[in-house]
Amino acid sequence: MCGIVGYIGTQDTKEILLKGLEKLEYRGYDSAGIAVMNEMGVHVFKEKGRIADLRAIVDNDVTASVGIGHTRWATHGVPSKVNAHPHQSTSGRFTLVHNGVIENYAILKREYLQDVNLVSETDTEVVVQIIEKFAQEGSHIEEALRRTLAILKGSYAIALVDNEDPETIYVGKNKSPLLVGVGDDFNVVASDAMAMIQVTDQFVELMDKEMVIVRKEAVTLKKLNGEIVERAPYTAEIDASDIEKGTYPHYMLKEIDEQPLVIRKLIQKYQDETGILTIDTDIIQATQQADRIYIVAAGTSYHAGLVGSQMIEKLAKVPVEVHVASEFNYNMPILSEKPLFIFISQSGETADSRAVLVQVKDLGHPALTITNVQGSTLSREADYTLLLHAGPEIAVASTKAYTAQLGVLAIFASVLAEAKGHTVEFDLVQDLGIVANAMEILCDEKEELENLARKFLSTTRNCFFIGRTMDYYVGLEGALKLKEISYIQAEGFAGGELKHGTIALIENGTPVIAISTQEQVDLSIRGNVKEVVARGANPCIISMKGLETEEDSFVIPAVNELLSPLVSVIPLQLISYYAALHRDCDVDKPRNLAKSVTVE
Ligand code: F6R
Repeated sequence: MCGIVGYIGTQDTKEILLKGLEKLEYRGYDSAGIAVMNEMGVHVFKEKGRIADLRAIVDNDVTASVGIGHTRWATHGVPSKVNAHPHQSTSGRFTLVHNGVIENYAILKREYLQDVNLVSETDTEVVVQIIEKFAQEGSHIEEALRRTLAILKGSYAIALVDNEDPETIYVGKNKSPLLVGVGDDFNVVASDAMAMIQVTDQFVELMDKEMVIVRKEAVTLKKLNGEIVERAPYTAEIDASDIEKGTYPHYMLKEIDEQPLVIRKLIQKYQDETGILTIDTDIIQATQQADRIYIVAAGTSYHAGLVGSQMIEKLAKVPVEVHVASEFNYNMPILSEKPLFIFISQSGETADSRAVLVQVKDLGHPALTITNVQGSTLSREADYTLLLHAGPEIAVASTKAYTAQLGVLAIFASVLAEAKGHTVEFDLVQDLGIVANAMEILCDEKEELENLARKFLSTTRNCFFIGRTMDYYVGLEGALKLKEISYIQAEGFAGGELKHGTIALIENGTPVIAISTQEQVDLSIRGNVKEVVARGANPCIISMKGLETEEDSFVIPAVNELLSPLVSVIPLQLISYYAALHRDCDVDKPRNLAKSVTVE
């Protein structure tokens, strides 16, 4: 979702801001803008569309050493040049960019801005106009910002510049992510470290309801009551080359291909010096004390949670419930006596999950976050963290983070099982190694999978994915991948459930992708395929070696059944990728979607 950058230093600010915004493109956006400030005042450039469109209108002759920039994912008001950030106060003195949602913006507008003519439809403009109002009443800028932040309800990450104080960027944060990067003779502001990793790897985390005064030579953190906060920077461990596409046409394809490597890296990261898989003993002890595990997540991470629940229940024999974060937040079930919560989130910033975490912490329950982003909000605020070690995932559609989530969940489940005295009947290190090899084989079968995408999906308007048990969960993920990047209407169903209503949608030629990797339900899912074929469906059966029959379209290498989702998802990812390519869709940046969903 929206992204923020800011720079104050000695170099050409425009280029640093634009490059930073390009690094944030992956988060999803529909318009962008920058404001740079020099002795002539503030110069604002903004445009609907891509950063390339913004670049085209930026005046190259304007030089400056202070500036802020923004990519906007529309919430209040359509994507347009007027609604794009930065927004300015009526006098032009204050210029501001904002991520998040100001829930009480309409009330604030009525209360404070009756006499102000707002030019945009955004909640953000209300904020900058109120800052101006307080400044006109005599408040110094810092005080005006503090007073404004104190009356905002909702989420915000804000960067503000003042024409009358050209040596400073003012920053505020609540719920939405924001970091301050520190350097020699310059400092920066960024929604995530990736945006500014080209200039510094030293970042200071901001907590909710903090503000920061960023100058070229100093960064001062304060609470909203003015109290100074001391916090040392941390080193962001991102290799700048990890965020380049290299020779790949799309990040998504690169990230699909990286999966065998990610699984091998995971094994290494979670092995102790004797080669045994291990998880922090505090985490295992906390989990052993729990009578039930609640997994909370959204989208692809929720699908990983479904698979993970099976792994934990089967190996460690602990009951697990899996919940969609946005529902759990408003509709919390009656909890067991000693629950333990697991939040699964690639970004670690998903607002829906965070809202649940806040409630869970208020109730005093232990929480573990499984995330790809060290230092992310969900990681910081939970008691424990397990990292995915998948490297930055840039494509909006999650691929390698999903398989890494499954890998971590498998390791967690098996270590927990051993700790509880349950024998794990297989060698997980060896079986994950087999998974990585199988992934590699599948990544080499792109041509065949592209042909399947052409055969089944080139003209269809819809598609069904069916499976049972683990394969049902993978079907849900396959359907999500297909719809989000190719815009084909796709649904994942439990094989036995289709006949209870949805089978009415099957007509001549409707593609039905059936997954069969579980011996126990192989015959049942094949029976479900017969039912849809009898109604005209065009079946594409993807089975696991050992269960294959002549009618199958694709066979994946044999792996441990409990780990099969790590492997069976790969043909589904690649089929979705090619279906999107064949339809000329923007694979890495699908319409309407954002990588890091920081609003509820
Ligand atoms: C789909 C996808 C989303 C995310 C969801 C949660 O490909 O990426 O469904 O899984 O928005 O995001 P995280 O995992 O960052 O909490």
